[in-house]
Amino acid sequence: MDQFQHLIIEKNDGIALLVLNRPKQLNALNKELLSELNSAFELLREDLETKVIILTGSGEKAFVAGADIKEFASFNGEQGTELAKTGHMTVFNLIEEFPKPVIAAVNGFALGGGLELAMSAHVRIASDNARMGLPETSLGLIPGYGGTQRLPQLIGKGRALEMIFSAKMIDAPTALSYGLVNQVVPQADLLEAAQTMAKSFMKNSIVAMGYAIESVNAGLLEGSVGYDVEVQAFGDCFETEDFKEGTTAFIEKRKPDFPGA
Ligand code: CAA
Repeated sequence: MDQFQHLIIEKNDGIALLVLNRPKQLNALNKELLSELNSAFELLREDLETKVIILTGSGEKAFVAGADIKEFASFNGEQGTELAKTGHMTVFNLIEEFPKPVIAAVNGFALGGGLELAMSAHVRIASDNARMGLPETSLGLIPGYGGTQRLPQLIGKGRALEMIFSAKMIDAPTALSYGLVNQVVPQADLLEAAQTMAKSFMKNSIVAMGYAIESVNAGLLEGSVGYDVEVQAFGDCFETEDFKEGTTAFIEKRKPDFPGA
């Protein structure tokens, strides 16, 4: 599994550790990284030795700081819709529906698409320095990788909308009190804590866990059109002046001045 440019995979005792590795960009999700994530999960699905997957970010600063803003800043509505749709299908739904447990070890910033990636995992452990948020409205966008659906599922509608409207980050203890993460540990102990959790899962039937994942997801998704609405609305944002101002301001490292409707 050494064909990856932005992903490191280490396999040990039934656990596959997947490290997202674009540290200079705070592991922001560009097209290649998403495509590599898709390939890695497809390989691990077939890999009989792998029972549990741990997903983390390289470096001590970030899990993932979001989708790569510089990559999509010039997109139009159609390209925006396509970006969200492809992300849902190839990575976020794939992880949520993955038949083996996936643990996100959130080791720093998990923002936008980064928090959405952590939320598509089955459980989350955060380091005590982790900070989580959905800052998309500060860019004139909405969360486009499932955040409008998975955040309210995990923490309830009121808190989810407050996080989306304010675009603010919450710290690890707050995330724990919201139920957004299952556990918080000192950063130095994060991977060990994730491995301990993985080993506790591995004492039980991974096949049964696959069926549990399928059943839990079915209860949440049955009849839901929310993901489709999110994909379309995410694309619509790309046609707005607010989106142009929001992404330009990020790239120019200044505060946005949104023109509004
Ligand atoms: N996309 C592209 N590049 C990013 C990035 C992102 N999401 N996040 C950080 N980077 C880059 C920065 O541009 C910077 O690169 P340069 O050195 O070339 O300028 C580098 O990573 C380091 O970042 P900062 O200098 O900004 O580091 P900081 O410590 O001052 O701030 C931060 C850290 C608060 C995480 C800040 O980087 C930040 O706010 N990042 C953007 C977070 C964000 O808005 N995420 C949502 C993206 S939109 C999305 O995800 C849409 C979706 O739902 C599909």
